[in-house]
Amino acid sequence: MADRRPWWQGAVGYEIYIRSFQDTDGDGVGDMEGIRRRLPYLADLGVNILWITPCFPSPGFDHGYDVSDYRDIDPLFGTLDDLDRVVAEAHDLGMKVLADLVPNHSSHEHPWFRAATADPEGPYRDYYVWRDPAPDGGPPNNWVSHFGGPAWTLHEPTGQYYMHLFLPEQPDLNWHNEKVREEFDEILRFWFERGIDGFRIDVAHSLLEDQEFRDNPKREGDALHGEIPGTQFDHFDHVHNLDQPEVPDIYRRWNRIAAEYDAMLVGEVYVLEAERLVRYVDGGRALHSPFYFATLKARWDGREIRETLGKGTAINGDTLSWPLSSHDDPHAAERFGGGEVGARRALAYLTLLMGLPGLPFLYQGDEIGLDNGRVDVKEDPIAVRNEGAVGRDGVRTPVPWSPDEPGFGFTTGEPWLPFGSNRDASTTIAAQMDDPTSQWHRTRALLHLRRELDDLRFGPMPIWLEGHADVVAFARGDAVVAMNAGKVPREVALPAGSWTVVFDTREGRTDRPVDTEVTIAPDHAVVLRHTG
Ligand code: GLC
Repeated sequence: MADRRPWWQGAVGYEIYIRSFQDTDGDGVGDMEGIRRRLPYLADLGVNILWITPCFPSPGFDHGYDVSDYRDIDPLFGTLDDLDRVVAEAHDLGMKVLADLVPNHSSHEHPWFRAATADPEGPYRDYYVWRDPAPDGGPPNNWVSHFGGPAWTLHEPTGQYYMHLFLPEQPDLNWHNEKVREEFDEILRFWFERGIDGFRIDVAHSLLEDQEFRDNPKREGDALHGEIPGTQFDHFDHVHNLDQPEVPDIYRRWNRIAAEYDAMLVGEVYVLEAERLVRYVDGGRALHSPFYFATLKARWDGREIRETLGKGTAINGDTLSWPLSSHDDPHAAERFGGGEVGARRALAYLTLLMGLPGLPFLYQGDEIGLDNGRVDVKEDPIAVRNEGAVGRDGVRTPVPWSPDEPGFGFTTGEPWLPFGSNRDASTTIAAQMDDPTSQWHRTRALLHLRRELDDLRFGPMPIWLEGHADVVAFARGDAVVAMNAGKVPREVALPAGSWTVVFDTREGRTDRPVDTEVTIAPDHAVVLRHTG
């Protein structure tokens, strides 16, 4: 029987933050050719889907998330031909490529915004969100930017404010305008025609805002004074400019286009409540998979992890993408304590994600248990604009490929961000590839195991196993995955039958039959196979 499953079902994703992945021209910034050269590495590691962060022409105020041309490649990264080569060679190696679409806002240097500011009567004005000042001349309402300060900037020549959920250099597009929707239909087709297999959609929950532009309510008990601007965002319930009911209509429209090309839509839907993700998928008629960012927030606590993951699957079935880390949040190893402990826990956590229905996504460097680079520069706009804020630079430091080459094999030049004072030979990919006991080998073994144990990819929904609160364990058909977040070894009673431990984060692939229960060391995880 022909395989009717979508190609992404059971796949493992890998996020490439292009600026920091692999430089090949010595300018200190990663590039398309760097990705191409590392494709065999990625295929061997066992990932199936590559998400490449924005590589389109951009003045770079938010490192590519401010796009000035949606149909080209920034010369910093290469050319359209370079991208074509990446896609073709990835396909030859059995991998798919997702581009990063940024539809919420463009760059202020995009010709649409230039036209909108130059000619307030012209057709492009309404591509963006313009409002008259409040009676006192200030911003039209109390909306604030993610990056600090008001979400409005006055355009003095025309006397109106434009809205920007992020930087003033990232004006929000007006998705109530049908013309904007038509533009993006064509942008989608442009990339699908070129062979791109789908998109990761940036801030996918925020494309529309209330048309009455009402103030957002303040959260109870929060004082705004004396705070760094970036935290003001958290003082409001963004009921009028995030997660608006009509947003999924846009993805239903894109879903029909994607279907013509058998392409995938993964959304950065940054709402933490599992219930609120359901309508973005709409039974497969809108996004194919939203990221479930609660995965990045769970602390190293069995109960909390069990609850977070359990809620995700109970409500969303097999549609979720599970990020281990991302370029916006700390590396998993950082989050779970840093150093060796953090790395060990990150691998145990990844083992759980690998067993869940849906798509686990690694972020570059996770395969060697990287924690954040210790750097004291400020490149990230969050850090630049907010005195005292921890920005995202630490998670974006370049990949340390090799200990023997200058620039850790990332660049022959000066890296755009330092590697961090906590990088040495042991935190390089090459060193870990030489050591069969390393995190890299364990991670690779886990990814390959997942391909062999069909129930980890396509099995029934997890049945959560009872046990001590430190333990997170579930069965999926012929597989059991169990992790111990506590400080002492814990036993987990197994479902009826005989079971064999086939993967242990302490030893990698193994073949150890057990009786009615399995013992898990603290900060470790195991995968078992039903053997009769
Ligand atoms: C998303 C991106 C982030 C970027 C923001 C604005 O959250 O992941 O890196 O700064 O959107 O585009």
